[in-house]
Amino acid sequence: MSSQTPPPKYIYEDHHDHPALLPMIDLPIIDISQLTTAEADQNLRSALSEYGCIMITNHGVESWLLEKVGMVFKQFVALPEEEKLKCKREAFQGFGADPALAGDLLPVDWSARLVLNVLPQEFRELKYWPENPPEFREVVDEYGSKMVTVHEVILKALARSLNLKETTFLDKIGEPWILYARFNFYPPCPMPDLVFGLKPHCDATVLTVLLQDKEVHGLQIEKDGQWFRVPIVPGALVINVGEQLEILSNGEFKSSHHRATVDSERQRTSMAMICLPNPEVEVGPVEELVSEERPLLFRKVKYEESLQLRYYQTGKRIIDDARI
Ligand code: OGA
Ligand code: NI
Repeated sequence: MSSQTPPPKYIYEDHHDHPALLPMIDLPIIDISQLTTAEADQNLRSALSEYGCIMITNHGVESWLLEKVGMVFKQFVALPEEEKLKCKREAFQGFGADPALAGDLLPVDWSARLVLNVLPQEFRELKYWPENPPEFREVVDEYGSKMVTVHEVILKALARSLNLKETTFLDKIGEPWILYARFNFYPPCPMPDLVFGLKPHCDATVLTVLLQDKEVHGLQIEKDGQWFRVPIVPGALVINVGEQLEILSNGEFKSSHHRATVDSERQRTSMAMICLPNPEVEVGPVEELVSEERPLLFRKVKYEESLQLRYYQTGKRIIDDARI
């Protein structure tokens, strides 16, 4: 084994395509400031039904804030290890690799994450929030409140586009729903076709809003059985449909199957802001979306973090267990 080869626990025996060889996908770009007109709502619906993954512009996050939120995490990962250990990951929150579970697991991801509960306020555990760089907390707080609006605007438009009361999806996920942040850090790897930064998965969320690295590619989605690279569009955010929305919409919106690859020379960062149902709530398909032509596809499920981690690490999906 050459010194270039990653340690065995990271390695996928069947190597995948070298990231640079995959074609780029042309994702729909939706201007969400136009939503509420029937035409814009329908465009959003058809884009998300077809791709499960789109880009949004005019999302209300000023460019300085987008820049800042990417920057504060890059500054954090550049700190000495002992400084980062102050927010060390325990169970779910904090900075580090996913906790290792026992059993028949897929190879470990070539990445570390900083996971934080952002909203509601009382779910925040500030001991995991970096104090360095000093503006980290303020910037993530500000970005988080913008993300609440983005999630609500999209979920309302999707409900309207299906002729439902606009708060239908929001009512179903309970009050308050949970916003959490996942900052992803992917160090370079000399053999990017043998490892994954994040293994192929569907997000277990309602929606995920992803801020990509400004320069380094890595996000890939599967469409019609083929993998594609997702382009970097300056100022745009990526929206992924998660499994909870697939269940809520009785399969109208399919969760996007995606993964993150790593670069051979450059580190990459990204930040996902995730919407999850209230932890007390069981989520099932909206009744109006069940009919004779469109039978009930899913049982009700309750999102549970520890269960989700096990599913992820074994390559299984909660939605498959919910399927009727
Ligand atoms: C995620 C995710 C992709 C990326 O955080 O769930 O899929 O590009 N991230 O980092
Ligand atoms: Ni994801």
